[in-house]
Amino acid sequence: MVIKLNPEQAVLFGAGGRGGKAAVAEPEEASRKGRTVIRLSTTKAERQQEKAEQAKAERAAAREAKAAGNGKGSKKAPPAAETAQSMAAKQREISVSEFFTKNRHLLGFDNPRKALLTAVKEAVDNSLDACDESHILPDITVEIRAVEGYEDRFTVAIADNGPGIVKQQIPRIFGKLLYGSKFHRLRQSRGQQGIGISAAGMYGQLTTGKPMRIISRTGKDKPAHYFEIHIDTAKNEPQILKDEEKPWEVERGTRVEFELEAKFQRGRQSVDEYLQQTAVANPHAKIVYKAPDGQDMEFPRGAKDAPPQPREIKPHPYGIELGALMHVLRTTRSRNVCGCLSQDFSRVSPQSARKICERAGIEPKGRPSRIAAQEAERLYRAIQETKLMNPPTDCLAPIGEEALVAGLQKEFKADFYTAVTRSPAVYRGNPFVVEAALAWGGELPADELGRVLRFANRVPLLYQQGSCSIWESVLEVDWKNYHVEQSRGAPPSGPLVITVHFASVWVPFTSESKEAIASYPEVVKEIKLALQECGRRVSVFLSRRRRELEEERKKSYITKYIPHIGIGLREILGFPEKEEQKIVKQLTNILEKTRGGVE
Ligand SMILES: Nc1ncnc2c1ncn2[C@@H]1O[C@H](COP(=O)(O)OP(=O)(O)O)[C@@H](O)[C@H]1O
Ligand SMILES: [Mg+2]
Repeated sequence: MVIKLNPEQAVLFGAGGRGGKAAVAEPEEASRKGRTVIRLSTTKAERQQEKAEQAKAERAAAREAKAAGNGKGSKKAPPAAETAQSMAAKQREISVSEFFTKNRHLLGFDNPRKALLTAVKEAVDNSLDACDESHILPDITVEIRAVEGYEDRFTVAIADNGPGIVKQQIPRIFGKLLYGSKFHRLRQSRGQQGIGISAAGMYGQLTTGKPMRIISRTGKDKPAHYFEIHIDTAKNEPQILKDEEKPWEVERGTRVEFELEAKFQRGRQSVDEYLQQTAVANPHAKIVYKAPDGQDMEFPRGAKDAPPQPREIKPHPYGIELGALMHVLRTTRSRNVCGCLSQDFSRVSPQSARKICERAGIEPKGRPSRIAAQEAERLYRAIQETKLMNPPTDCLAPIGEEALVAGLQKEFKADFYTAVTRSPAVYRGNPFVVEAALAWGGELPADELGRVLRFANRVPLLYQQGSCSIWESVLEVDWKNYHVEQSRGAPPSGPLVITVHFASVWVPFTSESKEAIASYPEVVKEIKLALQECGRRVSVFLSRRRRELEEERKKSYITKYIPHIGIGLREILGFPEKEEQKIVKQLTNILEKTRGGVE
């Protein structure tokens, strides 16, 4: 049931109000390989008109300034007051690349340490997405090398065995922000916005001046294409510095390499931690990490099979906004309202569509494009009032309870492990699944706060813990109910690790750097329910363990006195030594029967 949205509809669904700017899809690109570009500008003719208007405004402003004698003012004179015309001369379009160059913190490039992690993360997430979508078991190599003569410069190279990228697409994928194949669809994937890898390249270019180097091959009988690409940030367009065919020993896959200003560090929030946790959440991937300090790491494949592939879905009408509904009505390929509702949305049967039209007082056979604003509003309300099935859930691929426990077992030596995968739920019309897992005891530090590992669509989230709904939910659960210590406003303490995975066709990240999940009430509720179930299970484990320890204590107490009872009886009743041994054995047997084996 793969339904492709036409790009204009999809922009409205996918954009969901993010960014605040009206994004316009370029349809001719949409048809090419299903990839679309979202431009924050308009058509060529409109741009030319804009330019002409700007030049006119500049001339008018210059004339005004001359008339006012501003041009001859002394250095010390206060700046002249702006006029509408002089301001008009300065008003112009801002390219998305320029915007993110100034706001690179929004993309996760706020400091050199984080920049290294973000760059690796964007490339690895792309490789995993590409392999999963092509049903290939991922084989990924991450290589970080220090650049000679610099302390704060590194070369990062990420290679995969994925499907490769067709030649014509390489420049735009790596040299243009907001260009990708995942934005205009509702399907669970690691990337969403089409910003990731080009932003990493742009940061590299900004801090080192070096281009991105890409080599990609789509099959054994195809040549490997090598590109060196810069981003023209003023235009948000790729600049091709080199484009050639090259011999490459790899049969199929992509390798992307770039230089960037960065800081290499191990430990928390590092590339190591990201790769380690990625391996836990993606046991079907093999990852090799060649670090600049020579301490290479390998994360072998833990599962033979790739996880089931999530399906792409249409939007559910419960989550749609009025403007988006009007857009669908204007642009649908269906000839009547009833058909539009049942074909452009998920879970609207023709019967439900007729019911919705009846309720809204709209002719079901009417042309969708003729629906006036008022009628659209009635239709919108009727949709919300009509009972519809929840969105389909085969669009989600949770990690699964078994794999979650296996992942924790691989990383942490504990006494108890448990995991919960909740049934799918819906926020703003988007289906999602929450999973939680918990490890307790063993070698986990007993006198520290519990650790919380967060994942969204199998990607570890290492920053902005405090603003994430997962963290908020962990704090809101009353862990004392489950015999786990917790101070006010803090996570539970004790020898425990908590993992939470949020899987959805659209993850509501709080920013483009995709580090924290927004606190929609439905999301928080689901996470808390999953955590509470883990809490109940750990509480059962802890009570049982307490009982066992108590039993153990009593047993050892009795065991200590059994030989003395034997001696006492022999002395009082004058038993032979053999009889005493028999009595000791009998008493031990009774103890074993009543209180379990004696150690
Ligand atoms: N290693 C890769 N193999 C195949 N395709 C890739 C690879 N990296 C990126 N792509 C393609 O380039 C697009 C843009 O990537 P990116 O800028 O990271 O945005 P996003 O991942 O959010 O779509 C992806 O949607 C995908 O189609
Ligand atoms: Mg990406």
